[in-house]
Amino acid sequence: MASVPARVGATSAYEFLRQVEAAFHQYWGGQYEVVATFFGQPRPREELIAWLELQCYKEIKAVPQMARRLVELYDELDDTVERSRYEAEAYELADEVQHYRVLADVLELLTGQRRPARDFRPTAEQSKLEALRREGKTLGELGEALVGFAPGGGVAAFGAGMRIAGGPIERQLAKACQVIYEQELHHYRESRLIFDGLVRRSDPAVFEPLLPYARALAREHFLLRNAAFSFPLATERIAEIDAGHVEPFVPPL
Ligand SMILES: [Fe+2]
Repeated sequence: MASVPARVGATSAYEFLRQVEAAFHQYWGGQYEVVATFFGQPRPREELIAWLELQCYKEIKAVPQMARRLVELYDELDDTVERSRYEAEAYELADEVQHYRVLADVLELLTGQRRPARDFRPTAEQSKLEALRREGKTLGELGEALVGFAPGGGVAAFGAGMRIAGGPIERQLAKACQVIYEQELHHYRESRLIFDGLVRRSDPAVFEPLLPYARALAREHFLLRNAAFSFPLATERIAEIDAGHVEPFVPPL
């Protein structure tokens, strides 16, 4: 069982990394449990539709911005912008488009209706998480790299999703989750390398103020996941997870 100490004393890069990992692994365990619990019993079709609608929004929302960035970077390609970086950003854009496509396919199968991509909207919980992520980007390079930890939550949630079984919809959904799981794992490993490298190069004085933010971010993402699936975990279970009574989820390396 992972637990996050109430009092922090991050004095070294190792200790900082250990505490950040503990908080994220704890709440990623919570995210895994949300998805496993949701699919563990029959649920109203509307709940699955509501999750898919939000997830479609999450996958497609950054694509126009990423596309504009690729156009901008083109002007600097093989000048100040490395072609390997350009390639990586182009693949990342394609990944998000694919995540959107596989989930929108399932949604369309469920509802029999095609929806324009721009119709998908964030929920209140999603907007709250986005605001918290924006805050992280104001906390320096390390804060930004902490926000980059987010794919770990996707690894946990879609790792649970790819194990669902049932009829044609469930089978297609499990396959979609597997596609997303594998790519999120790849993004997670990359963002971990960036984060670990930055931690090694940072002044330890910046570590302690970032720990409350890391915990808040990990928790908010977990709460969003629970809300997105129409609250399969009750308030009492959330309190237990807050207290560390949960199987931590550690993305495979
Ligand atoms: Fe995605």
